[in-house]
Parts: sequence; structure tokens; C-alpha cells
Amino acid sequence: MSSSAAPPAAAFPAFPPFLPFELERDLSAFEYEVAYNLSESGVHPLSVAELYEGDPGAFDRLRDVSLYYAPGAGLPALREAIASTYRTADASNVLVTVGAVEANFAGLTAVTRPGDEVVVMSPNYQQVYGAAVNYGLQVKTFPLDPARGFAPDLAALREAVTERTRLIAVCHPNNPTGRALTPEEMAAVITEAERVGAWILSDEVYRGSERRGGDFTPSFFDAYDKVIATGSTSKAYGLPGFRIGWAATDAGTVDQMWARREYLTLCTATIANHMAAYAMASPVRDRVVERTRTLIREGYAVLERWIGTQGGRLALTPHDAAAITLLRFDVPHLDSRQFVTRLRERHDVLLAPGDHLGVPDHVRLSFGLPEDYLQAGLDRIAAFLDEETR
Ligand SMILES: Cc1ncc(COP(=O)(O)O)c(C=O)c1O
Repeated sequence: MSSSAAPPAAAFPAFPPFLPFELERDLSAFEYEVAYNLSESGVHPLSVAELYEGDPGAFDRLRDVSLYYAPGAGLPALREAIASTYRTADASNVLVTVGAVEANFAGLTAVTRPGDEVVVMSPNYQQVYGAAVNYGLQVKTFPLDPARGFAPDLAALREAVTERTRLIAVCHPNNPTGRALTPEEMAAVITEAERVGAWILSDEVYRGSERRGGDFTPSFFDAYDKVIATGSTSKAYGLPGFRIGWAATDAGTVDQMWARREYLTLCTATIANHMAAYAMASPVRDRVVERTRTLIREGYAVLERWIGTQGGRLALTPHDAAAITLLRFDVPHLDSRQFVTRLRERHDVLLAPGDHLGVPDHVRLSFGLPEDYLQAGLDRIAAFLDEETR
């Protein structure tokens, strides 16, 4: 390239050093190596055969799918199926993305500019916080309060949100706690956003994986105008391998996000669009979601029973949805990274360290797994704690 073609260095903004996505980096190094992986954040996934069980005709129809690029915003049938999971959406409100990660990233960058202020819930899945820092946003956090069962500290939110705040990011139901915001807490978040005209980016990947009751957790999409609600087939549907996610937002923001994803992924996989449309339309959706909820309910019962035998050295935190929960551990000489590393090295069990998620003295454990596998993993954790507390 001739030197005259290179842009002057000063044309590039001075970004802070790149913040890696530590949680995902660490887990991906070991998740396929360990005997018991209790670090996942979804339920045990479906196989293709389970998805099409009892409906060989639908599976056969996949043979006829032409493998063109998928439409940039997603297959119309899939956008409609996704829209039907909201009270007030239609297909024009939906952009299909590569997982909720792409939806979060495209949403964040569509409605902010480097230098803007954003306020992010903590603890949280690390993605939005790290992506915001790397994109050059001024990032503030507001806490979920461990002393109040990880309820949001609304006074801290009020203090953090200023006239400069462009976006408030929440994770609802939350990763890592599995706690959903109450209707009153949702209303309080909306009040703060409305006060300054901010967007709400609501990561709702765990919507649909409720442990109690049959209803989906209310979405911010149905409650506020300047909102990007994100979701995916990865958790409630047990289909992370599709890499299908979405954003639900106004049609103009769908277009703005689409314009950004054109630089990164263009579109999602055609075959996954067809399979996800099948999985998310009635009546298959009901069967798939019920399977997830059964794994969560049964796994939680195993976990609760086991915690009861641990003599107070582990405590559960309040949980509404998702196949993950936070365990507080009382082993003063260990931090969460040491806990996870030693457990893996000595007992071949993988957990996620709370330090990666903004909650020291906790580990995140996944329990939406077949009972024998889960119980064997828990027994190994007990053996590890016996060694450490002897
Ligand atoms: C809160 C949250 N958001 C987004 C994601 C990414 O999910 P996806 O597979 O939909 O990209 C995860 C995955 O663990 C998550 O826990």
C-alpha cells in the first residue's frame, strides 16, 4: 500500500487497552476437557433428533432448504415466532442476530457513540460492560445488593444516572444470580431512563426459563419505548448451537443495528433460521420450553437437597429463572478463582468464578443437567470442600 493511502494515526481515537472477555476466555479453555462441566449457563442442550421427535416430516423438509444467505434481518417466519413471545411486538420489531451476544453488541453501538455515558447493572454477564469499555464509552455500574438477596440498589442507580447517561443496561433475569426484577423494580429502572431520555438495553436471554409458574418473565420491550430487549435460543430453548439470537426494538433501531451487523456477520445461518423457526413456533415451543423448565426444576431440587448437607459452608442466593445460580462459600483462605482452579485441577469439575462476574466469595454453578451427572459433580465439590476445610 502506498503511504499516501494510510489514514493519519491521529484520525483514530485513543481507546483504552482492550479488555478481554475473561469469563468466556477461561471457560472455553477447559469446558470440553473436564469430567463435570457445571460452568455452563444453559440447560443440557437438545439433540437434532430430540427437536424433531415425532415429526419426521418436518425434519425431511429441511432437505429442501436452499442454502442461500438468510435475509439480513432474519427469516420472516422466525421473526414472527420471536415477535409472538412479546405482548406488543410484530416481525418488524425483530432483528435476528448471531446469539444474544451480537444483539447486545449491535444494540449498544447503534444507540451510543464513544465518549457517551452508560450505566450497567453489576453483577452481570461481563459482555456489555467489557464491550462498552472497549468501544470507548464512559461506564458506570449500579449494584445488586447481596444483603437484600441481590435486589437492585435503586438509590445507587438514581445517583449514577445523569443527564449524560445515554443507556442503562440490565440483565433480567440476571446472570449470575438467576433473579428477575420485580414489576416495581422494572418501573423504577424505567423512571430513571425516562428522567434523562436514556435507552434501556435489557439482556433477557433467560426469559422463558422460569423455575416457577408458566408465564414468561415480563420484558422491558412491552413496558418502555426506547428499549432494546435481547434474547436467544441458547437458554430457554436449550439450543445454543444454532447461534440464533435477536433484538426486539422499534423498526428504526432494527435498521440501525442491521447496518452495524453488516460489517461483522452480514446475516445468520440459513439452516439455523429454519430450525429455530420450527423450534420457536407453537406447538413445538411449548414442548421445548417445558423441557428446559423441567431440567431447571429437577436440578434445583437436587441442588437444594445437597446444599442442606453442607453444614452452612455454602449458601444459595434467591433464584427465579435460568439454570445457573450463585453459591456463596465460606472458606476464608480461598478466593473464587482459587476455588475454581483447585477444584478443576484436583476433581475435574468446572465452575465459573464470581470474581469474573463482579461477585467475589461466590461461584456460579449450573444445575439444569441430567441428575446423575449433576449429583456426581456436586459430590466432587463436597469432597473438595472437605479437603479445604479439614
Ligand atoms: C446474560 C447472557 N447474555 C448473553 C449470553 C450469550 O448468549 P448467546 O448464546 O445467545 O449469544 C449469555 C451466555 O451465557 C448470557 O448469559
